[in-house]
Amino acid sequence: MDERAAARRIEELRQQINYHNYRYYVLDSPVLSDAQYDALMRELTALEAEYPNLITPDSPTQRVGAAPSAAFEPYTHRLPLLSLSNAFSYDELVAFDHRIKRMLEIDPEADVEYVAELKIDGLAISLTYVDGRFTTGATRGDGFSGENITTNLRTVKSIPLMLFASPPGETGTGEEFPLPELMEVRGEVFMQLEELARINREREEAGEPTFANPRNAAAGSVRQLDPAVTSKRNLDIFVYGLGFAQGVRFETHFATLQAFKRWGFKTNPNTRLCKNIEAAGEFISEWGEKRASIPYDIDGVVIKVNAIALQERLGAVARSPRWAIAYKFPAMQETTIVRDILVSVGRTGALTPVAIMEPVEVGGVTVSRATLHNEDEIRRKDIRIGDTVVIQRAGDVIPEVVQVIVDKRTGDETPFVMPDRCPVCGGEIEKPEGEAVARCVNIACPAQVKERIVHFTSRNALNIEGVGPAHIDQLIANGLVRDPADLFTLKPEDLLKLDRMGEKLANKILASINKGKDTTLSRFIYALGIRHVGEHTAQVLADYYGAIDKIEAASAEELGTIPEVGPVIAESIEHFFAEPHNRGVVARLLSEGVNPKAEKVATGGAVLAGKTLVFTGTLAHSTREEAEEKVRALGGKATSSVSRNTDFVVAGENAGSKLAKARDLGVTVLTEQEFIDMIS
Ligand code: IVH
Repeated sequence: MDERAAARRIEELRQQINYHNYRYYVLDSPVLSDAQYDALMRELTALEAEYPNLITPDSPTQRVGAAPSAAFEPYTHRLPLLSLSNAFSYDELVAFDHRIKRMLEIDPEADVEYVAELKIDGLAISLTYVDGRFTTGATRGDGFSGENITTNLRTVKSIPLMLFASPPGETGTGEEFPLPELMEVRGEVFMQLEELARINREREEAGEPTFANPRNAAAGSVRQLDPAVTSKRNLDIFVYGLGFAQGVRFETHFATLQAFKRWGFKTNPNTRLCKNIEAAGEFISEWGEKRASIPYDIDGVVIKVNAIALQERLGAVARSPRWAIAYKFPAMQETTIVRDILVSVGRTGALTPVAIMEPVEVGGVTVSRATLHNEDEIRRKDIRIGDTVVIQRAGDVIPEVVQVIVDKRTGDETPFVMPDRCPVCGGEIEKPEGEAVARCVNIACPAQVKERIVHFTSRNALNIEGVGPAHIDQLIANGLVRDPADLFTLKPEDLLKLDRMGEKLANKILASINKGKDTTLSRFIYALGIRHVGEHTAQVLADYYGAIDKIEAASAEELGTIPEVGPVIAESIEHFFAEPHNRGVVARLLSEGVNPKAEKVATGGAVLAGKTLVFTGTLAHSTREEAEEKVRALGGKATSSVSRNTDFVVAGENAGSKLAKARDLGVTVLTEQEFIDMIS
């Protein structure tokens, strides 16, 4: 394909991908299968690799890809991002309506039209579009100046990189919606509760602190210096307002929101046009009840005057507009009493104090336990047994103790003391300098053994169904299992010794254990329960090394050179395999027939990992397609045009202009034989 044809095809692909992206991430109603979508993306990526000069920042391939930065640049907003004054009761809402009518000199009995919107609990950002292209994204900051987080916001799939100027996916409607030369759109970036739960699960497994609520998670994610991290956080957005705009003007706020929708922005589907303040009040009470039924957190409702002309007449006072108000819902908090503080032992030996509380309902869920994280946290909040405490729950998240109500103390409360021996095995406890977490150092501690096996069999590890925590407890108590490898030596008669175990169930469990042998390398690595190695790191290691023995043999230094494997993870892996017991378990797992298969050709061990090659001229030993296939199988990339990014040009018989270009650019040129030697 020549460059002109490539440019046309690239444009076509971008439009298609943008449209399908919109169907998936904005409308939540995809029309393509994942495989069909991937095929479009692959074709575009390949064409752009061939013609790098045709890459533009708004190409869908560029959502990730920017390099990590050292800091964010300050960004001055063209118009300040104001905040809202609050109302906490119906009376305050009515007072807001009266104030507006008085200032506008409207009859108190007449109606002012409002738009009622959910108040999303995330963080405010501003998006600038020039001729329909996303150019800059910034945090609110102090309202006048924020931080330029464009590269991070590009990774948010529901933020359009290019706006639609006519209805996408339809032809011949003749309808067009002109794009303004310049416009700044405001919205709330947030994280869905399910996504927060997923991230917190991963963080907990990796021994990292979890996010207390979706807002902290969203704020932490958009301010990551590495956009690749932001990209994995699956953030979302709802846009709710127009800032500075040139070349557009709307009569009403509601019309503005509809225009946003046509351009391809994601607006909240629950927004309602209300004919007066009473209707807005109904919206508020409806959502006060329904707030737990949506997959993200809201902390209230925003009521806005619909007519832009009226908004302009009302103006702003201090830093809030007079035409809008936030009706705040009560936080999902309750008070209860701490009856006891127990210490649980996890699979890495970490001792976690847990508050056992008088059961109480918070946002529709009964809560009776809350993690207190560690001793320092208990001391910081000064939580004592018998204390009355405020607890809160953000969606699906583990409840937490916010604070102690000190006024309720009677003097009978007992401060918590961390046990100096493991509460389960009585073994020694270690708390390294500078670390918050105390650990039981006995790797044979039954609590650790149990948690390690529970983890090993869990759904995202070896997925051994039917072996629940209760069975594992019994297997350990009967001395039948001490580590994950022992599971594979179990015989029917062993299982029959357990309570409530019949032949049928025993066989079912053994069959399920047997099925677990057939697994992937990444699941296997994850299943080992190495500290700091969650599912994602396991996948990275599997893709890089392709075999468990290579990972076992790798030094921390070598591991640390793998992208996405930091020094802490690298140390932890080396430390794990330095332990003879752990190496023994791995060896026994393999000899018992566990067969972890690599899903891809290893990129790290492969000779051509990350290398780009170009073939030119006629090859004697294979066709060009076969040679290119070989390159890809070895982790490399085969392209058809030579650039500074090319690592090798393999020149066959009668090589022409590409060979000359390679020499010009100083790219290494290989003969076909040299290429064969290199890969064999
Ligand atoms: S309008 C001048 N609409 O609430 C109007 N804000 O307390 C300013 N927020 O900083 C904002 N959902 O982060 C508006 N539908 C919504 C909102 C919303 C969430 C946040 C926003 C703002 C804060 C003000």
